[in-house]
Amino acid sequence: MKFSFIPNEKNLNKDVVLLELTPESICKHTIKDNIEKLLFGIEKKDEINQRKFFVLCRKIIQVAKSQKIKRLAINPEYFNFPKLDNLDPKTKAQIMAEQFTIAEFEFNKFKKQSKEKTLEEIFVITENLEIKKSFERGYIIGKEVNLCRDLANTPGGDITPKSLAQKAIEACKGTEAKVTIFDEKKIKELGMGAILGVSRGSHEKPRFIIIEYWGRNKNDKPIVLAGKGVTFDSGGLNIKPGDSMNGMHLDMSGGAVAIHTVALASKMKLKINVVALVPAVENMPGGNSYRPGDILKSMSGKTIEVLNTDAEGRLILSDALTYAEKYNPELVVDIATLTGAAVVALGERASAIFTKDKELEDLFRELGEEAGEYVWPLPLWEEYEEDIKGNFADLSNIHKSGSRWGGAIEAAIFLYQFAKKYPWVHIDMAPRMISIKSDYLAQGSTGEPLKLLFKLLEKYSK
Ligand code: BES
Ligand code: ZN
Ligand code: ZN
Repeated sequence: MKFSFIPNEKNLNKDVVLLELTPESICKHTIKDNIEKLLFGIEKKDEINQRKFFVLCRKIIQVAKSQKIKRLAINPEYFNFPKLDNLDPKTKAQIMAEQFTIAEFEFNKFKKQSKEKTLEEIFVITENLEIKKSFERGYIIGKEVNLCRDLANTPGGDITPKSLAQKAIEACKGTEAKVTIFDEKKIKELGMGAILGVSRGSHEKPRFIIIEYWGRNKNDKPIVLAGKGVTFDSGGLNIKPGDSMNGMHLDMSGGAVAIHTVALASKMKLKINVVALVPAVENMPGGNSYRPGDILKSMSGKTIEVLNTDAEGRLILSDALTYAEKYNPELVVDIATLTGAAVVALGERASAIFTKDKELEDLFRELGEEAGEYVWPLPLWEEYEEDIKGNFADLSNIHKSGSRWGGAIEAAIFLYQFAKKYPWVHIDMAPRMISIKSDYLAQGSTGEPLKLLFKLLEKYSK
């Protein structure tokens, strides 16, 4: 799908369908006033706030696709809603472009191509240069989100730690971002015992992916994005039961977001220093697997008693968080499909965030609203720290008594033990790993919270 610009509605090409918003409750592909139109009903115009606006934009695209419309003309000036009056037209145009672009995406590269429902082109009716620029910007952002979703959705048999590293290189091709890949030997040299422990059960060797983008003076502290890169999470010897293993090829979604956020920052030439760190492993049962009871020595020097091999994300991230220290970072954000417990706590409509810093908490909530990628805080109180003191090691990777209560918090407080040397935000994105029906997005990865993180980088670049 691409955007083109036309000055007015007159002389629309024959094969272009014009979108008309109407107050009636209809959705109809019809001929009106001699023009082929898609009539899209918005009953309660007065109630369209920003949250509803995101969904409305996506819904329009879904309807157009279901009507097998290939070319759609849209006039942004018709998108006037009283509750959005405070939004400047450029921001609104960018939102439209982003939402149209992500709504058009489908993960169908493994299907015998049915192009039937592809919306090929949107004609934006405007003569305003600023609006055009905003559409172009929104398109680039939306496209990057779609690349991220494509990567996250790709099956575990196709994305291994090695091929994930290759994908990171491809994502940054032609940009100023520099990709470095550590192999198992280097990971060993660095003493990343937690990453090595998790990866041992798989035939696939681990990788540690680093992307650096220096968009301003190299002496300025960077932001580090650490993304969980478990290319498939079977649970390991504590193997996942029943169908809860389904979807676990998406357990590298946090890594995909980190990779594509930095790729986007470099494409957009943001004046910011940013680094992505992605520990990439496959968590498998096997004769050489790490076992419950094993004690791993992390890069930090802290030892970790493994009480459950399925709590692997926090292990690999602990080494990434320690490695992040080397950058003397301004801020570290980790992004991870870390716990089912976060989904239990919040449902599937918001990612959980954890931070000790109230200002960062407020900032992330605000950016989440702006991006349409919602986040909600959970506590990181000191009291929780005693739960993960190891019986026989410095730490245990789950509650030392085996309790499952508050699992998202226990995971976060574990990560915090490795993130005390810099400002830090943890995003447990498990709730938003895949879309729900009411998102009006394709099945599979949402690409969240890429837009939130990009907004964060924009903010720091000013
Ligand atoms: N990758 C999973 C978490 C997950 C579950 C993400 C469902 C998305 C959807 C993680 O590695 C995991 O298995 N966590 C366990 C932790 C438990 C063993 C303490 C969980 O959430 O059950
Ligand atoms: Zn797991
Ligand atoms: Zn996992």
